[in-house]
Amino acid sequence: MSNQLGFFRILVAEKLSYERFQHSVGVEVLAGELAEKFGLDVYAAQLAAITHDLAKSLPYREQLKKANEWKLIHYPEDIQNPQVIHGRISAYILKEEYGVTNQDILNAVANHTLGRPNMSDLEMLIYSADLTEPGRNYDGVDKLREKLYYDLREGTLACMEYTLSYLRQINRAVHPLTVLAYQDLKNKLEL
Ligand SMILES: [Fe+2]
Ligand SMILES: [Fe+2]
Repeated sequence: MSNQLGFFRILVAEKLSYERFQHSVGVEVLAGELAEKFGLDVYAAQLAAITHDLAKSLPYREQLKKANEWKLIHYPEDIQNPQVIHGRISAYILKEEYGVTNQDILNAVANHTLGRPNMSDLEMLIYSADLTEPGRNYDGVDKLREKLYYDLREGTLACMEYTLSYLRQINRAVHPLTVLAYQDLKNKLEL
């Protein structure tokens, strides 16, 4: 795979607001560092990270239209809560418009919002780095960063636990994929 990071950084800078661009760069930096530490493909991690929110600035109406057209709606909850589908739309655009073929990168981008059962290391890395990049500053983020730094799976589980409890706290429905992702990872870690 030739190095396309520069191309995607510029693309993302054009497509996203400055704040979202900064967030994406933060995810790229953290995912790159952690990929190196955990012996994962650093370039794949950086590419998935910089592009993970590529479609996030599209208006919801347009996202829903594209998701329908491209058959990316898999659950009724995808429509009830449309901010969850930008991962799949971003992955679709990366593949169809920009020729990204690495399926692990595409999966990591597609599943960064909800997770899914049987996540690969790269999927867990992007899911967790999205929530813990240096620009995030909510209560408890340091604890999540620390866990993630020592163990990718434990850190990802902690991020999922944080997300589940946050959603309950604000009375938001939890997407079934997130519940499945959490149960799957918890089972594996208890084995
Ligand atoms: Fe996102
Ligand atoms: Fe993000």
